[in-house]
Formats: sequence, C-alpha cells, structure tokens
Amino acid sequence: TPLSHIRNFSIVAHIDHGKSTLADRLIQMTGSLEERDMKDQILDAMDIERERGITIKANTVRLEYDASDGEHYVLNLIDTPGHVDFSYEVARSLSACEGSLLVVDASQGVEAQTLANLYAALDADHEIVPVLNKVDLPAAEPERIKEQIEEVIGLDASDALEISAKTGVGVPAVLEAIVKRLPPPAGGSREEPLKALLVDSWYDTYLGVVVLVRVIDGTLKKGQTIRMMGTEATYRVDKVGVITPRMVEVENLQPGEIGFLMAAIKEVADTRVGDTITDDKRPTATMLPGFKPAQPVVFCGLFPVDAGDFEALRDAVGRLRLNDASFSYETESSAALGFGFRCGFLGLLHLEIVQERLSREFDLDLIATAPSVVYGMTMRDGSEIELHNPADMPEVMKIEEIREPWIRATILTPDEHLGPILKLCQDRRGVQADMSYVGNRAMLVYDLPLNEVVFDFYDRLKSISRGYASFDYQITEYRASDLVKMSILVNGEPVDALSMLVHRAAAEKRGRDMCERLKDLIPKHMFKIPIQAAIGGTVIARETISALRKDVTSKCYGGDATRKRKLLEKQKAGKKRMRQFGKVDIPQEAFIAALKMG
Ligand code: GTP
Repeated sequence: TPLSHIRNFSIVAHIDHGKSTLADRLIQMTGSLEERDMKDQILDAMDIERERGITIKANTVRLEYDASDGEHYVLNLIDTPGHVDFSYEVARSLSACEGSLLVVDASQGVEAQTLANLYAALDADHEIVPVLNKVDLPAAEPERIKEQIEEVIGLDASDALEISAKTGVGVPAVLEAIVKRLPPPAGGSREEPLKALLVDSWYDTYLGVVVLVRVIDGTLKKGQTIRMMGTEATYRVDKVGVITPRMVEVENLQPGEIGFLMAAIKEVADTRVGDTITDDKRPTATMLPGFKPAQPVVFCGLFPVDAGDFEALRDAVGRLRLNDASFSYETESSAALGFGFRCGFLGLLHLEIVQERLSREFDLDLIATAPSVVYGMTMRDGSEIELHNPADMPEVMKIEEIREPWIRATILTPDEHLGPILKLCQDRRGVQADMSYVGNRAMLVYDLPLNEVVFDFYDRLKSISRGYASFDYQITEYRASDLVKMSILVNGEPVDALSMLVHRAAAEKRGRDMCERLKDLIPKHMFKIPIQAAIGGTVIARETISALRKDVTSKCYGGDATRKRKLLEKQKAGKKRMRQFGKVDIPQEAFIAALKMG
C-alpha cells in the first residue's frame, strides 16, 4: 500500500464514553470480522478489563476500507490504555499514529480524561476529529457539548461528527473522516536502515512474546537480525504480520505500516515500550526520542495469608511479570507477616488490577500492606537513597532530607459538590493551582502529594460527588517535606506492616484515627490490649481494647446446640484469616480497613 493510502489513528476518550464500542463498530463495518465472531469489545482481551470496562493493554487492528473516492485504504487503529497510570504507554501508542478521534459522550460532555488524553494526542502532533457519541440517548445535547469543546479545549467543533456507536448511526462518516481529515504517515524511506518504534508487547501462551511495531524507515522482514537499541539485545525475526484482528503473516512491513513481529523473545521485560528497533548489521544512526523505562511509583507488600502459599505466590508474581514489564517485585520479609513480596506499580489502578488478578487467576489469599509511594532521601553522609518501604526507613539522625512525589490533579465536578471536594483536597495538603468553570461544572487544578492520594482519595472523591467527579493526575516533581515514620504498636509490639510515613503536621490525627479503627477491628482477647501510635520513642496516640469477660458461647443461653456449634465454627473460620502478633490475633481485614483514612 502506498503511504498516501495508509491512515494510522487512535481513539481517545474518557472512560465509558464509548471508545471500545466505536472500535468494534469500525471493525464490523469494514468487514474485518465475520458477524458471528463479533463479541462485545473485541479489543479488550482480558476478563478483568471487560468487567471493569477498562482497556489495559494497547492493541491494534488493521482495517481494509473502500472509501467513497473509489480508492482502497488501510486504516490502522491503535488502541490506547484509558487510565492515567499508563500515560507513558498512551504516549508511545499515540506517537505511532498521525491522528485521533476524540470521542465525547454527548450526554456527559468533557471529562478529566477527555482533556488528559486530548493533550497527549496534541503532544503527539495529532490531527483531531471530534466525535460526539451516544446521540441516540434522550439526554444527548450535541450542540451544547460542541460549545463546551470549543470553550474548554479550544478545538473547532463545527464539523464534529454526531454518532451512536451503539446503533451504528453516523459511523460510516467516521470512516470517511479518517481518510479525508487525518493525514497519511510522513514519508519514511525504504532505502534507509530499519527504524521502528516498539509500541507494545505482550505474552501469548502459544506464541510467546509478540511485539507491536510501527515502521518509520526501512523494511522489517522474516529472517532479519534486529537490535533493540535501548536494551542492546539482538534477535532473529521469526515472523512478521498484521492484526486484522486475527494475526496474519505478511512478507514484510514497510515505512508507515503497523504490525507485529515474533523473535523467540523470552520475556516481555526484554521488550521496552518506546524502544527503537533497528537492523543489527545496518543500524540506524539515531534512536527515536523519548525512550524511558516504566518507573514504578507506588509500592506495597503482598503476603500470603497462609505461609505455605509463599511458593505459589512467587510463581504467580513471576508469571504476571512475564506479561507486564511495568510490574516489579522483590522478596520481602516482615516480622509480622512472614515472607512475601514488595511490589512496585505504575499507580493505584495498576496496583488494584494486579491484586485482583493474583487473587482471582491464581486463587491466592493475600494480605496487602498499605500502598506507599517512592521517597527520595539525601543522607547526612551525602549518599542518596530511594525508599520503597516505610519499614526500611533509616535512622532519623542520618537523614538530611526526605522528598516525596507531588502530582498535578485535574478534577471536573458538578458545581454542587465543589465545597466538599475543595475540603478533601485541602485536608490532603493540596495547593490549588487553578479553578474555572465549564458550563455548570467546575474544573479544579490541584497540586497534591501523591502520598495523600494513594490510599483512598479517588474513592472519597467518587463518594462525595456521587460518582460525578472525574479525576486525572500526573506526577510533576519531588519536593522536600517534613515526613516522619509512624509506627503502630499492638500490645507493645510494633506491627511493621502498619508503619507509614506521614507529614508531621498530620501525624497525630492519623495516629489517633488508626488506633481508634484498630480498636474496633481487633477482637477482644482474654487480656487488655493497648494500641499505640508512636513517632520514634514518643507515643502520640493510644487506645485500649478491654479484656474479654465472658465465654463467647454464653450468649447462647446454653440452650441451642446448633447455634453454639455454628458460632464455634465461625470462630474457627475467622481464625484462618487472622495473623498472630505476639499474643494478639489480628484479622486480615483490619490491615486494609485500618489504613483507610477517615
Ligand atoms: P473504557 O473501555 O472503560 O475506556 O470505556 P469505553 O470508552 O471503551 O466505553 P465502552 O465502549 O465500553 O462504552 C461504555 C458504555 O457506553 C457501554 O455500556 C456501551 O454499551 C455504552 N455506549 C457506547 N456507545 C454508545 C452509544 O452510542 N449509545 C448508547 N446509548 N450507549 C453507548
């Protein structure tokens, strides 16, 4: 196919505005799939994604399209992950194409991720076609949303398309717009040495590692020895092909084209998204700009509830890593929780997805410690430390400075929830950077310490706004901060899994909250249990769980034997999910619950 007849594009949208539904329609209308193969949301491969309606792994599909000008076009749709945690992957995917369809739900309007994704597309120099989706809904207000797009985004929306991805109305015009309004790939040269962008990679049980590439210059073909310029690894190409969405082998991939390669690569971790692929014997002189390996910023410890499951957990995290190079892990041992793994994630959603996969796919009962962020430390002796685990905090006397990551958050919310949201941001040490109005919605821009956001900020935001606020963030910088390590002692023993770094000014309140919560969460024992929060040797909060007086079964009045037995069984089952700290049993739920801030 000549370059002039190729279009590489992606669809950017806020979650739930209809990206996957539109992609399915485009696939269906170009006949790339037989009707009977058509499942909902073909692009979302994994169960979890489907359930959550979130696209995690970038995917691509090549569409063959006969346009109204009588010409035949190849349209490559690159799917992008919809969540901020994967912003780096989004940027890489976008840099593989020349244009984007900006999908906005005509009944909802512009949301936080509409903006974030649009800016990412503009950063990639994309031509943008605004598409108003869901015009079949009675609540759709395309005219008002067009105004909103012009006002908030400054994008000309006069020729925005109005469609229903669900019914198919207006979708043929989308295909025409892709051909007419989006540019073809800029001219690469077949004669130049191979230069291709590594857009994505995934592990397939049958095929091994599959690498998605966008060829810039030269030709990629079977038998060629390629070199990954970032990792310097070399491989012999076994297969090249395109995804239609079936994987179809082709002779070669040329400038402007998007396709896959396979090359007996063992792990996804060997293929770095954003890397430049070149010919080993005749390499290109310069790498593509912007390559950087994924940096985990949120960490938590994962421990098996049953110590006997440690090997099973090791196996499971290993297998997850095969398919997710941005997930990292190392063994960790905790006095309280035994052996487990300290795991690193790109962000909160990433963490949640991994936890869920571990418990679901691998059927593991896990205790997760509170998520913490990466802290940078300068020591008095001049050395630098990166702290992933509050339990490893060095002696305070040796520390010169502690730095924590800050984010810039954008929040869009209906007016009436503004007050409580401002308070939430303020309570979390937020600094307002901007506030403006988009119709009757307020757009807030806040700088916040990530530390204050990792645990339950997003949940709180959703509940305060009854689900109507949208949120997006990016990490901006590390700032020095007065952070202290707060330890929690149960019956005089520190519970390492509950220690955390907090801002000094917030420590006392957080400590009190923790002690109060734990008091309710830890069952009574035969003796009194003091619960304390401490900074260094100083106790800053304290609660006491009183001793158990009566036998639990006594409330059954000695009468009903079945009830009595049930109660004992319940206790026994509860026991399994408990952890012993010294003489005290702490139920697993207590860990998570205790760490949710009030
Ligand atoms: P993520 O995968 O979470 O990013 O969401 P998405 O943007 O891909 O949205 P998706 O396609 O999953 O659609 C979200 C919901 O909107 C689904 O329940 C769709 O059935 C529905 N939907 C999509 N397009 C339309 C439409 O044109 N009209 C109506 N009424 N509903 C639609």
